[in-house]
Amino acid sequence: KQISIIGAPMDLGQSRRGVDMGPSAIKYAGLVKRLEAIGYDVEDYGDIEISRPDKKEQDHLLLKNLKAVTETNERLYHAVSDIIEKDRFPLVLGGDHSIAIGTLAGVAKPHKNLGVIWYDAHGDLNTAEISPSGNIHGMPLAASLGLGHASLTSIGGYQSKVKPENVVIIGARSLDKGEKELIREKNIRVFTMHEIDRLGMTAVMNDAINYLKDRTDGVHLSLDLDGLDPSDAPGVGTPVLGGISYRESHLAMEMLSEADIITSAEFVEVNPIIDEKNKTAEAAVALAGSLFGEKLL
Ligand code: ARG
Ligand code: MN
Ligand code: MN
Ligand code: MN
Repeated sequence: KQISIIGAPMDLGQSRRGVDMGPSAIKYAGLVKRLEAIGYDVEDYGDIEISRPDKKEQDHLLLKNLKAVTETNERLYHAVSDIIEKDRFPLVLGGDHSIAIGTLAGVAKPHKNLGVIWYDAHGDLNTAEISPSGNIHGMPLAASLGLGHASLTSIGGYQSKVKPENVVIIGARSLDKGEKELIREKNIRVFTMHEIDRLGMTAVMNDAINYLKDRTDGVHLSLDLDGLDPSDAPGVGTPVLGGISYRESHLAMEMLSEADIITSAEFVEVNPIIDEKNKTAEAAVALAGSLFGEKLL
């Protein structure tokens, strides 16, 4: 199998500096070698160009850096499409989670029913009207469902990359009021921390995998490192206590590998500036190892 790694050093979807160094931090933690050791042919595709925020642009307060985020995601869409055309597995490194808009535009195009696993403390289901922050990294799942500002929903020249019934959110513990309403209205499957505590990660992943397996023709894993507990992944811009443990996350990745359903993936929100000795990037690399079939014995 062949993997292409695309860096998306974006920090404009939120307000803390440093997350643009995520791709470097993850590569420094040994991603390429780790995947090669499993037996993959790994290509470093390099980083996409990030648009500069236009100071003169009267930025929509409710959509910070809209123009630059839109342009950058359009570029990421093209890079991901390019890799899919070459029949390689796209592995995207963020950058803040706003880059999922471009990734999903690229990976969803050849699929009728792309499934998405959104591994995250957050729902990222906001739109400008309901966002408490105006930060676009809180909006990529909504945009991919076709909800929100037209610039964000029409990346790649088409709307509605994913159907709400093909989405599973895992690890949620910080959902805004409007996001909760949307989850109910669209009937999106969510395994919050409550279900993970109560049922255990094995049951949650079995359920998620069985649910997606029947209805989808490919599954994208969008892994926000803040889905993990901040003690295991401190280098994230919006940490939330009470998260998924390092070991539970490995189990989740191992089960995805065994089920063999993942057709594309991204690791986002790694911010080495607020990290502890690159711990969060190292967690990302270790989890990628499990996702791609690394065995303990
Ligand atoms: N829900 C909050 C917001 O909309 C936080 C979003 C955090 N998103 C993330 N990808 N870390 O601003
Ligand atoms: Mn284009
Ligand atoms: Mn998050
Ligand atoms: Mn997120």
